[in-house]
Amino acid sequence: MAIKHYLQFSDLTADEYAWVFERAAAIKKKFKSYEKYHPLADRTLAMIFEKASTRTRVSFEAGMYQLGGSVVHLTTGDSQLGRAEPIEDSAKVISRMVDLVMIRTFGQDKIELFAQHSRVPVINGLTNEFHPCQILADVFTYIEHRGSIQGKTVAWVGDGNNMANTWLQAAELLGFKVHLSTPSGYEVDQAIAGIRSGESYKVFKDPMQACRGADLVTTDVWTSMGYEAENEARKKAFADWCVDTEMMRAAKPDALFMHCLPAHRGEEVEADVIDGPQSVVWDEAENRMHAQKALMEYLLLGRVKT
Ligand code: CP
Ligand code: NVA
Repeated sequence: MAIKHYLQFSDLTADEYAWVFERAAAIKKKFKSYEKYHPLADRTLAMIFEKASTRTRVSFEAGMYQLGGSVVHLTTGDSQLGRAEPIEDSAKVISRMVDLVMIRTFGQDKIELFAQHSRVPVINGLTNEFHPCQILADVFTYIEHRGSIQGKTVAWVGDGNNMANTWLQAAELLGFKVHLSTPSGYEVDQAIAGIRSGESYKVFKDPMQACRGADLVTTDVWTSMGYEAENEARKKAFADWCVDTEMMRAAKPDALFMHCLPAHRGEEVEADVIDGPQSVVWDEAENRMHAQKALMEYLLLGRVKT
């Protein structure tokens, strides 16, 4: 069987997503009822972090143990990765010893290169360009709360970053629309997002207009990891891109609010919104684990017979 990597959202088809979401729901149910499920017994996941993490680390590590497997945790600081060992060599060595690799790094080119030289599936745990595991959990969370996302509208308020790019890939693949509002100079680049056409998204200057009639409103930090030097300039540019109660009122009455977290209350989102009744951010964070367990099961075992 050819190795299946998960480097961008577009690496799975709509049909494969339908399967993974179904499995995520089934695996979550087992977890909630303390039912032992160890399909990945004796399998090992290597997690490589070149950037900080709370959710990604805990969800992959806890998730892998719950599936019966084990985990090796590496960072740039405590491995030869930080001492310029070539990515190709690291990939060849690490992938001879483990069954699956998750990487959080800077450029997408680094994870692509690692995958080219890996004998085992590689999962993107966030790059400057994409965060597919997060959108996997976000769409799963939407489905849990509201049913199919097909034909719905997602309002993106904020930076044209890794999350925005991945939402665009998901919209093109799963058949929904994204209303994008970013400050000027921070727009999404369609070529970097890797989408074929402009049909699945619409750009709005005014964030309030982007939220009008939306089924889901979502945002992210003004300054992503790796862009800290731009922090002061970004604070000025993004001042009007704060999701507030007025924006939520412009969305559909039953609209959900999501944020991948960590959040900065008073910057990209008002406390009243993220801690308010439309927010599903805690379900969203928890679902990282259930969705990624389903993803790991699929990448290693395919469509398991249940
Ligand atoms: N949302 C997310 O990826 O969180 P961490 O940076 O804590 O992993
Ligand atoms: N866009 C953010 C997401 C953090 C989970 C970043 O890349 O830092």
